[in-house]
Amino acid sequence: NLQNRLVVEGHLVAAGYQVIQAENGKEAVEIFAFNPVDLVLLDVMMPVMDGFEACRHIRAMERGSEVPILFVTAHGDLETHEKAIESGADDFLSKPIQRVELLLRTKSLLRIRRLEQELVRSNAHVRSQRDALLRAQQEKRRLTAMIVHDLRGPLGCVLGNADYVLDSDRLTESFQQALRDIHASADTMDRMLNDLLDIARSEDGALAPKLKSVNVLDLLDEVRSYLRGRERNSRHQIIIDSRPELKPVQADRDLIRRVIENLVENSTKYAPAWTDIRVEVSLEDGERLLFKVRDRGPGVPPEFRSKIFEQYVQLDRDRHSHARGGRGLGLAFCRLAVEAHGGQIWVENNQPTGSAFCFWIPLTADGRMALAAARGGVEAA
Ligand SMILES: Nc1ncnc2c1ncn2[C@@H]1O[C@H](COP(=O)(O)OP(=O)(O)O)[C@@H](O)[C@H]1O
Ligand SMILES: [Mg+2]
Repeated sequence: NLQNRLVVEGHLVAAGYQVIQAENGKEAVEIFAFNPVDLVLLDVMMPVMDGFEACRHIRAMERGSEVPILFVTAHGDLETHEKAIESGADDFLSKPIQRVELLLRTKSLLRIRRLEQELVRSNAHVRSQRDALLRAQQEKRRLTAMIVHDLRGPLGCVLGNADYVLDSDRLTESFQQALRDIHASADTMDRMLNDLLDIARSEDGALAPKLKSVNVLDLLDEVRSYLRGRERNSRHQIIIDSRPELKPVQADRDLIRRVIENLVENSTKYAPAWTDIRVEVSLEDGERLLFKVRDRGPGVPPEFRSKIFEQYVQLDRDRHSHARGGRGLGLAFCRLAVEAHGGQIWVENNQPTGSAFCFWIPLTADGRMALAAARGGVEAA
């Protein structure tokens, strides 16, 4: 009633608040619609529209869901309290209204509202920063992929011309050697670019192997002819050991070939000259194809055996020692490519010395499903 309202207004104005009075619930709703109100104080019993209904109306309005609403009720009236909560009240004030209580409730409800608003603002800020960061990251990846892709063109020209000139019989032995060096370096660079591209693809979730039926012996022939170039250059003896009865495998020929080439290239980099490198292929349990690349190099200490398959990881001893470079991407690519086939890759000791890099892939797509299921369905998709 009017007397109560005047008392309340007196207390609030004295405390520095601005107050707008409404005669009834309907007027309160209209006032709320046109004024930037920070807090609503509602009596339950009012003419025209009661407090509950006014509360529901306000809650349904824009800004109305956030504004604190304080009900003035008779002391201990549980039924009214329940109805007020249902209609959207935040708190109650019992009649007769005490000044201190009124000011305390008002202050704390306003503070809660201010904190809420700050939270919303800072959330929005964090979200927009995160979005900007994601966009920048995506942009960077796209740019990297584009540069890498564009670099492969000129490199192809270097490789092609080196091949062409190497075929000439008018070259002295030392020119031939120089050209082979050019060729091998360009080749390494080409593979690094490819590895980078595929790692980026895999980060975008797009490294899907293009599975075809691959004849393993043909694949090894390709590897062999690639290795002949390597062999001349690296002064290692590379032996490919496979059974002629190997069945075709469902695989991405290009990816698997590059995995093998990466592993062999590592062996030529890390094992001493004039030692053997063996590439072995065999069938395991009738359902997986197992590849092993064995060398007589320094091996990989047990504590680094899983680490070296991460990007940019190189052993300290190898980081500076190879003029021909490498940035710790090769094995990361190998792991992504093998896992994209549903297989596994690891390194173990070679007997009597050196390392054996091993990987297997399932022989068929069916075998892949079965293996995934046996492993707990992690890769069943
Ligand atoms: N055959 C190997 N023998 C010994 N260490 C190896 C061999 N292959 C790889 N490593 C170690 O694993 C690291 C990562 O290999 P990789 O990812 O191919 O990168 P990169 O060849 O560019 O150094 C190498 O830097 C090296 O320390
Ligand atoms: Mg490498």
